Amino acid sequence: MAGSGKLHLRLDSDPLLIVQDLVVQYKVNRKSFVSAVAGISFDVLRGETLAIVGESGCGKSTLGKAIMQLPRPQGGTVVLDGVDITALDGNDLRDVRPKVQMIFQDAISSLDPRLQVKNIIDEPLKVWKKGTAAERSVKVDNLLNSVGLDPVVVRDRRAYEFSGGQCQRISIARAIALDPVLLVCDEPVSALDVSIQAQILNLLQDMKEKLGLTIIFISHDLAVVKAVSSRVLVMYLGKICEVASPDDLYARAAHPYSRALIAAVPIPNPDVIVKRISVDGEPPSPVNPPSGCRFRTRCASASERCATEEPQLQEVGLGHFVACHHPVTN
Ligand SMILES: Nc1ncnc2c1ncn2[C@@H]1O[C@H](COP(=O)(O)OP(=O)(O)OP(=O)(O)O)[C@@H](O)[C@H]1O
Ligand code: SF4
Ligand SMILES: [Mg+2]
Repeated sequence: MAGSGKLHLRLDSDPLLIVQDLVVQYKVNRKSFVSAVAGISFDVLRGETLAIVGESGCGKSTLGKAIMQLPRPQGGTVVLDGVDITALDGNDLRDVRPKVQMIFQDAISSLDPRLQVKNIIDEPLKVWKKGTAAERSVKVDNLLNSVGLDPVVVRDRRAYEFSGGQCQRISIARAIALDPVLLVCDEPVSALDVSIQAQILNLLQDMKEKLGLTIIFISHDLAVVKAVSSRVLVMYLGKICEVASPDDLYARAAHPYSRALIAAVPIPNPDVIVKRISVDGEPPSPVNPPSGCRFRTRCASASERCATEEPQLQEVGLGHFVACHHPVTN
């Protein structure tokens, strides 16, 4: 979509997270703002890995952070485990924060290079008063072991001494220290070599199974997304284009933008045949997005209706939703 709608919400299934009509705007000057997340709704079931994909600047990171209320969204609701966290303030909001943790692309700069690894991982435990110093020290060692790092070797070393993959392991240890229920992974392997990517993806999968985590996996890499996700949400300029299982998306993407994204990546599966559709030009400015369907200025199928009427999500297959007036059918 560059559209809207809530038909895809599975409110009968007790989702862990329900996001409805989320709006995040960044002020550019007194008169204008960037419409980074423009009324997005989705849910995430317990234990699910939901991937969010789309070109640079489409609002993926903003969406991830807005779920954590950083910054507070300008509109919409985020219900986590039955609690509307957009309605919480002060200590009530602080109390739910540990439940959602985030991992970033640039692990090296997200860790304080001057701190010893043991202090990096101990920090959230200390802030949240999780046990005595001795108890926390044992917990830090357990966390390091669980992410495949030997505490004896690494605990006294500083973050700058480690490679990107090792730093991502340290970030993961820190993120799971407070027993979150939801992990928002923002391009967690994009900065890593391909061989290391697989190790970190395996580690995340391992953590997910051991700890019963639910994951939002933000990425621009559709090959990685196919390997890790149970469902994929495709974003364009602050809106959702399509929601589908990875298999459906690769085999029968119905939104012209999704098809263009898929056609742009080499897919190591000879059974998957997607007609190539090129996306011409750059995305328009989110300060002044096109009327109707936001994708229309780059869409070869655009009609007059696309300029005047925003497409709503419609179901085109079981669990497969698309926001387009002229969806592609195979
Ligand atoms: N702090 C900010 N102030 C103003 N505009 C911002 C800010 N952060 C992001 N934006 C704008 O909001 C839009 C969405 O940005 P965001 O970083 O969420 O996109 P993204 O999909 O994560 O991109 P990428 O793939 O490059 O990480 C972009 O137009 C971006 O320029
Ligand atoms: S056909 Fe119309 S609604 Fe569908 S993606 Fe293209 S411009 Fe948008
Ligand atoms: Mg981003």
